[in-house]
Amino acid sequence: MFPTTRMRRLREHSVVRDMVRETRISVDGLVAPLFVVEGATAREEIRSMPGQYRHTLASLVDHCKMLWDLGVKSVILFGIPEVKDAVGTGAYAADGIVQKAMTAIKKAVPQLLVIGDVCMCEYTSHGHCGIIEGERLLNDPTLDLLVKTAVSQVEAGADMIAPSDMMDGRIGAIREGLDDKGFTHIPIMSYAAKFASAYYGPFRDAADSAPAFGDRSSYQMDPACINQALMEVELDIEEGADIVMVKPALPYLDVIRAVRETTLKPVAAYNVSGEFAMIKAAAANGWIDEKRVALETLLSITRAGASIILTYYAEDAARWLK
Ligand code: PBG
Ligand code: ZN
Repeated sequence: MFPTTRMRRLREHSVVRDMVRETRISVDGLVAPLFVVEGATAREEIRSMPGQYRHTLASLVDHCKMLWDLGVKSVILFGIPEVKDAVGTGAYAADGIVQKAMTAIKKAVPQLLVIGDVCMCEYTSHGHCGIIEGERLLNDPTLDLLVKTAVSQVEAGADMIAPSDMMDGRIGAIREGLDDKGFTHIPIMSYAAKFASAYYGPFRDAADSAPAFGDRSSYQMDPACINQALMEVELDIEEGADIVMVKPALPYLDVIRAVRETTLKPVAAYNVSGEFAMIKAAAANGWIDEKRVALETLLSITRAGASIILTYYAEDAARWLK
């Protein structure tokens, strides 16, 4: 009790503050999301995501070299195909844009960990994350396409697979599909608790993947449900997920904490496009200190229990933490 106990004693000297710090952000856990556009001749800045680009194959490879030199050790790739169709053929084409990008990156920067986002929405003409019949998204027929997509990405060089579609049974199907091809060593990072969030807005502009009708609430989770999140995580782990992800991050810190406490698997969190855009917009107005707010955000996500953070701030954070 006061005056014997004085909490401020450990806050006086900056070395002591550093010494007793309970949470540290490590660049080792940061994953940079990147976009690559098929047939593009010049990279294009994403309007709602300042400093982030829709890359050409060439600019993507240069960017990856730069990230590796900075200390960012992993990227997750999203492709935007020239042609979209009802069954998302571009997602699993051997010469699809993401497959080409993976091969090119692995050739130029072999040590960089390349993660493949596995989903159909960037490749389907209707913008949904699977096959549809009328306005219904068909779960089981979609699984085959997700497996094909994952296998084609690994064949092109992907080091890890991250399914983001939220179909039931996809982790088990993809694990089996990869194992059948001899890819037993490739880890799966499951977007296990992915919510139907309004925070994905800027991403959908960047990836041109907004649904043409309806929304994603028949497959992504209701933001109100944390028990469902824990069940999704449990099922994905039973099906073979090596890493489980919560997405978005900042509005779901309670979910990250709950997942951390229910599993021994590594927990990832996706600090999504809308979270990034909000900081950028406020900073551009001079209303907040961008660096401090971005680092506080990454620290908070880490403190909640995520050891891996997918973030558009990966590059800046690597610079700031140097
Ligand atoms: C595709 C996918 C999305 C994001 C990652 N993978 C969008 C969506 O589900 O509509 C969002 C990432 C972000 O907002 O940064 N399924
Ligand atoms: Zn999708």
